Amino acid sequence: EIPALPLNNGNTIPQLGLGVFRVDNAADTKNAVKWALEAGYRHIDTAAYYGNEQWVGAAIRESNVPRDEIFVTSKLWNSVRGYDQTKQAFQTTLDKLGLDYLDMYLIHWPAPGYEESWRALEDLYQAGKIKNIGVSNFQQHHLEHLMEKATVKPVVDQVETHPYFQQTDLHAYLESQGILHEAWSPLGGGQNNAINDAVINEIAAAHGVSAAQVILRWHVQREEVVIPKSTHQDRIEQNRDIFAFGLDEDEMHQIEDLDTGHRVGADPDDEEWLKQSQTYDGPKK
Ligand code: A2P
Repeated sequence: EIPALPLNNGNTIPQLGLGVFRVDNAADTKNAVKWALEAGYRHIDTAAYYGNEQWVGAAIRESNVPRDEIFVTSKLWNSVRGYDQTKQAFQTTLDKLGLDYLDMYLIHWPAPGYEESWRALEDLYQAGKIKNIGVSNFQQHHLEHLMEKATVKPVVDQVETHPYFQQTDLHAYLESQGILHEAWSPLGGGQNNAINDAVINEIAAAHGVSAAQVILRWHVQREEVVIPKSTHQDRIEQNRDIFAFGLDEDEMHQIEDLDTGHRVGADPDDEEWLKQSQTYDGPKK
């Protein structure tokens, strides 16, 4: 059974979801979503930028799971800013997914102009078209700036988080604000993969579980939402089985000590990168 965590608006979010970043074709996307739903996942995390919303939507529709049992998240890409443009992009996302509401919609990065986009999200939230609104890759100062004028508080901040980049300060800030910490690349992604870490593997062996399960369990015990990506059925199932064992305090501390402070992904304070990202719409239309 996958637990649900409370959001600051009274709604809840399943603590585990399937991520589909870099899943770039129909077959892999549809299979991953189908296997996740069969395995009991009820939370799928996509984005306009990923270029796979249409296949995510098709897989949801082809499943026998009722729409209202699935928590579907998508994200507004950086090239879209401004009130009307944001509303249009949201409608395009709904159309691609073939849905008439979203469970959650996030501003993907704090690229310039996000304040106007947030106003559009607030209105779509008030109109019931989006059940929950939040942000992604926001640093504390971006959130403070956003909340100066916001009338609706973000429910989550989805940020790069894994044993080698733990976001300890941001985690504490989010907790103090009642904003849920959602981890992207929870396993560490890329070459810097914590799955191969000796300490993690020692803990895994002691519990008779995999390194990936230890890492996901560590996130869960930090009260984070996790959205591991996999296109393999056995891994999708394995990543679900993280609620029947626990890490003790010493094990949590051993993992805490692995933090390097180095990101794998882009830096939300890299203004050059943010501006550059506003000039393209993603790998696929
Ligand atoms: P694959 O899709 O081939 O299974 P993250 O979500 O942290 O970015 O990590 C995703 C990466 O980790 C992907 O390369 C994915 O590959 C791999 N992965 C996902 N789950 C597992 C697992 N249980 N064991 C090993 N690798 C995994």
